[in-house]
Amino acid sequence: MQNFISLAQIDEVTNLIQKQISIQPTVGLILGSGLNGLADSIQNPTLIPYSDLPNFPISTVHGHTGQFVIGELEGTPVIVMQGRIHYYEGYTMGQVTLPVRVMHRLGVHSLFVTNAAGGVNENFIPGDVMLITDQLNLMGMSGLNPLMGPNLDEIGPRFPDMSQPYDREYCETARAIAKQNNMTLREGIYAGLSGPSFESPADLRFLRLAGADAVGMSTVPEVIVARHGGMRVLGLSGISNKANLDGSTVTTHEEVIEAGRVITPKIETLVRGMLRSI
Ligand code: HPA
Repeated sequence: MQNFISLAQIDEVTNLIQKQISIQPTVGLILGSGLNGLADSIQNPTLIPYSDLPNFPISTVHGHTGQFVIGELEGTPVIVMQGRIHYYEGYTMGQVTLPVRVMHRLGVHSLFVTNAAGGVNENFIPGDVMLITDQLNLMGMSGLNPLMGPNLDEIGPRFPDMSQPYDREYCETARAIAKQNNMTLREGIYAGLSGPSFESPADLRFLRLAGADAVGMSTVPEVIVARHGGMRVLGLSGISNKANLDGSTVTTHEEVIEAGRVITPKIETLVRGMLRSI
């Protein structure tokens, strides 16, 4: 039985955070596997561990710290999820997306989502960064949409539009920032699976046929919830490994974390540039 999150539960967390901070964050940032380093650049940070918050899931994955960092980056008040929650950890979709609901209630109007992903597009190599231009909601297609259950009418409509999950203007800005910094920025469609097992060669051939360029175990539910509340979204995938369509190599969590070291500075450049531009 799904355990749906109510507005009262969201606001209980929101109020607790509100009491501990003196700035009003306007941009939310979710850091993916191996990409936590960016949170260390936040100025005047207030750290709030997820374990201090009621109704809140705790990130159990190695490489994910599990706290909010609220402070300033490029002069913009931001709230950063240092460590995200994944569906495969055993939480409900409501719990997985609770942090985004809370960000929205705190006044966040834009969400920058990052993740580690496998490269399905054959031109991608580990260390690449991909601008997410659209997403394949494979979890939702199998009945795991985070908006299932009573609709939170105060936040958004029952049947929200999803024609532009990733903000086109933000995509344009990200392309320009990459160009200014002589950085190769890949683009494409992110397919969200539940994990935690990596894909089989047949899964990957299916994903390629379906038009996916990258595959991962997060992001899609958070973006749906963000769009439900009218937030503008930018998505960046760090390509940590190549999809193995013939089964000749093995994908490991260690290589995902390792690739994060190459990817983090690129994502930092893009995020800083975005913050300066909005
Ligand atoms: N598949 C799914 N999720 C991932 C991968 C992958 O190959 N790499 C990093 N996250």
